Amino acid sequence: MLLALPAIVCAQKNSTPVIAIETDATGLYLVVDELCLKQSHYGARVADPGQFLQVRDMARDAYPVYGSGNPNELALAITHGNGNVTTMLAYKSHRSWDDPSDGNIKWTEITLEDTAYPVTVLLTYKAFACENVIQTMASVVSRQQRITINSIASCYLNLKSSAYYLSRLYGAPGFESNLLSERMSEGIKVFDSKRGVRNSHYDNQSFMIALENPAGELTGEVVGGALCWTGNFRMSYQVDVMHNCYVWAGINPYQAGYVLLEGGRFDTPWMALTYSPSGKGEITRNFHDWGRKYMLNEPQRIRPVALNSWEGVGMDFDQKTILEMIDRAADLGAEVFVLDDGWFGNKYPRNDERNGLGDWDINKKKLPDGFTKFIERARARGIMFGIWIEPEMVNPSQLAEKHPDWIVKAPDRPPLMHLSRQRSQQILDLSNPRVQDFVFDVFDGILKQNPEIGYVKWDANRYAPDHGSQYLPPDMQGNLWIDYVKGLYSVYERIVKKYPHTIIQLCSSGGGRVDWGAMGYHHEFWPSDNTDALQRVYTQWGINHFFPAMATSAHISQVPNHTTSGVTPLKFRIDVAMSGRLGVELQPRDMTPEELKTISSAIAQYKTIREVIQLGDLYRLTSPYEDNFASMVYVSKDRSQAVAFCFVTKYSPAQDYPVIRFSGLDPNRTYAISEINPGKSNGSPSVGKSFTGDFLMKNGIRTTFWRACESAVFRLNAK
Ligand code: DGJ
Repeated sequence: MLLALPAIVCAQKNSTPVIAIETDATGLYLVVDELCLKQSHYGARVADPGQFLQVRDMARDAYPVYGSGNPNELALAITHGNGNVTTMLAYKSHRSWDDPSDGNIKWTEITLEDTAYPVTVLLTYKAFACENVIQTMASVVSRQQRITINSIASCYLNLKSSAYYLSRLYGAPGFESNLLSERMSEGIKVFDSKRGVRNSHYDNQSFMIALENPAGELTGEVVGGALCWTGNFRMSYQVDVMHNCYVWAGINPYQAGYVLLEGGRFDTPWMALTYSPSGKGEITRNFHDWGRKYMLNEPQRIRPVALNSWEGVGMDFDQKTILEMIDRAADLGAEVFVLDDGWFGNKYPRNDERNGLGDWDINKKKLPDGFTKFIERARARGIMFGIWIEPEMVNPSQLAEKHPDWIVKAPDRPPLMHLSRQRSQQILDLSNPRVQDFVFDVFDGILKQNPEIGYVKWDANRYAPDHGSQYLPPDMQGNLWIDYVKGLYSVYERIVKKYPHTIIQLCSSGGGRVDWGAMGYHHEFWPSDNTDALQRVYTQWGINHFFPAMATSAHISQVPNHTTSGVTPLKFRIDVAMSGRLGVELQPRDMTPEELKTISSAIAQYKTIREVIQLGDLYRLTSPYEDNFASMVYVSKDRSQAVAFCFVTKYSPAQDYPVIRFSGLDPNRTYAISEINPGKSNGSPSVGKSFTGDFLMKNGIRTTFWRACESAVFRLNAK
C-alpha cells in the first residue's frame, strides 16, 4: 500500500528523464519522444542511464497501439464507444516509489492518455532487486464510455540481436513439459492456449530467449519470461529482416473482445521478466528465487512427503482400505496421506468419473464414519490427512439438478460431451459471483468441519470447448474466460487468506495449469499424470527451468506404469522422485516387504537432504536432450552442501560411464562425497573420497553405470 505519494513527473516536450526500472543487475529503460513512450533497452543494468536520452532515435515503441501506424504486433487494440477502432496514446506522467513493506521491491507506474477519448492506460512495473526479476502489467481505465478491449498485452518487449534462440516447453496430457530449443527465423511464431480454464499441457507461457548465439547453462545472454495467467494466453515472437524481435505476452485475444463498462478498469495479468548475462541456469535460479520468496504459499516451508491414493486404489476403496493405507503411509515415513478422487456423492456416487462432481458430501456407503476415523488415525500415527477436490466442475449430481444455470454452455446447443478426455463433466461458470461463493464454500465447508485436514489437491479435468455464460449478458460473452480466471483468483485469494497453512496442490489432469498465476496461490503442483520415471526425467527437467523442485510433486509409483506400461527399476523411480518434492503414489499392500523397506529407507534419507533440494540453487549439468543421461546438482545457498543426481536415459553402446562435472560449488572448499539410496554397488568410485570444489567443477567424478534407467544420488558435504 502507498504511504506517501511519490513525486509525479509530468510530460514536457522531450525533457522527460529516462524512466529506469532497475534491479541489482538488470534494467528496463524507457524514454519519451514527442510524447510517445519508447523502450530503449532491456538487459544488463547500465551505469549511466541518462545517456539513453541522447539516442532516443534508437528506441522503439514501448506499447504500440492500433491506430498509431505501427505495422508490427500491437500491444493494445480498443473499439471506442462510437465505433472508432483506433487509439492514440500520449505520455502523461510517471512515478516511482519504494515498496513500503519490502525494501527489495520498487514500483513504477507510467500514465498514458488517449489523445481524443477519456481512456487512460497505466503501465505498472514491480522490480525485485535481488532476484533480478521485473514484473510488468497494463491497465485500461475508461472514464466515460463503454469500450471493447480487442487485445491487450501484459508485456511488449523489443529486443535487438543478430539472432534469437527460443527455448520453451510443449507437450500434451501425460507428456508435459518437453523442452524445445530452436533458432527463430524471420516471421511471427505464436504459442498459445485456447483451452479456457487450463493452459499448460501443450504450449507453456514461459520462455528463454538467447541472444546472438545459443546459450549454455553458464554462458550466453538470455532473456526469460513467464506470464502469470491461468487462462487462454498468447505468446508471440516476431523477428523482422532487420533482426528486431518483438515479444508479445498476454491474455489470448481469441474470442475475447472484453467489454469494459463506463468507469471501469481492466488489469492484465503480470508478466515476469528476467535477464542473465551468463546462461540459462541463472534465468532458472532467478525465477526459482523470486517464486520461492514471493509467489508460492508458505515459500520457505519444507514440503512434506506425501502418499497419494490415486494410482494405488483409484475410486475403488472403502473405509478399511484407506485406514490401512494411512497406517502403511506412516510406516513408510510419509508425512501426509492424501485421499484422492472417489470419496463423495450419495445420490450420484462417485464410483467412476461419470458422476458426482458438485455434491461434496462424503459417500456414506464407502466411508460410513466420514473423515473422522481417517483424521484420528492420521493423528495417532503422527501424519497429516489430505483430500482431493475438483470444485469448479460438475457432472450428474444434485448440484446440476438445482443449478443448471451455473453451467457453462452455449445457448440452444447441446454441450460438447463427446470430446475425448472430458470425463462426462462440465464447467461451473466462475464469472458468476454466486458460483465463486459456491466454490469457496466447498473448500471452506470441508475445512470448517474437518479443521485437521492439512492438504488439499485441487484438480480441474476439463478444458473449455463450450462457450456460453448464463450469467453474463449476451453482449458481454467475450468476457467469459477472462472473468472466469479472475473469479477463480478471487476464490483462491479468499481461501489462502483463511487457510494460509493448508497445503494446496495445483493439479489439472496432471500439469494442465502450471503457471505462475495459479502457482501464486499454491504450495506445489502435479507436473503430469505420467509417473513413469523415464518420462519424468524429461518432464521435470523441462518444468524446472521455470518452477522450483520444492513445488514439483514427484511420486514413486508401481510398475508397469499406470500411464505408459513402462517398467523401470525401483531405485530409478525413487531417485527421479527424490529430485523434486518426494512422494509415493501406490498401494503399499501390493509391494513386497523388500520394496517397502527400500522406499522407507529412501524417504528417511530424503528427509536429510531435502532442504538442499527444496531451497537450494539448481545447476543443470548434462541435458538428457543432448546426451544419454541427465545430471544436475542442487547447492545450498551457503555452498556447504550439495545433492547431485544422475539418470541414464538411453543405453550407450560405448559403455561409457557418465561423468558428473559440477557447477555452483565453492572452489576453495573440500567436499566429502557420499551416496544416497545406494544400489548394490557404489554409484561412483569417488564415493567416500573428498575433493575440492575447484576439482569437482573442472574434472568431476565418474559413475559406475551406463544402462538405461540406472541412476545415482550423491551428497556433497563441505568439511
Ligand atoms: C487427474 C489427476 O491428474 C490425477 O492425479 C487424479 O487426481 C485424477 N484426476 C482423479 O480423478
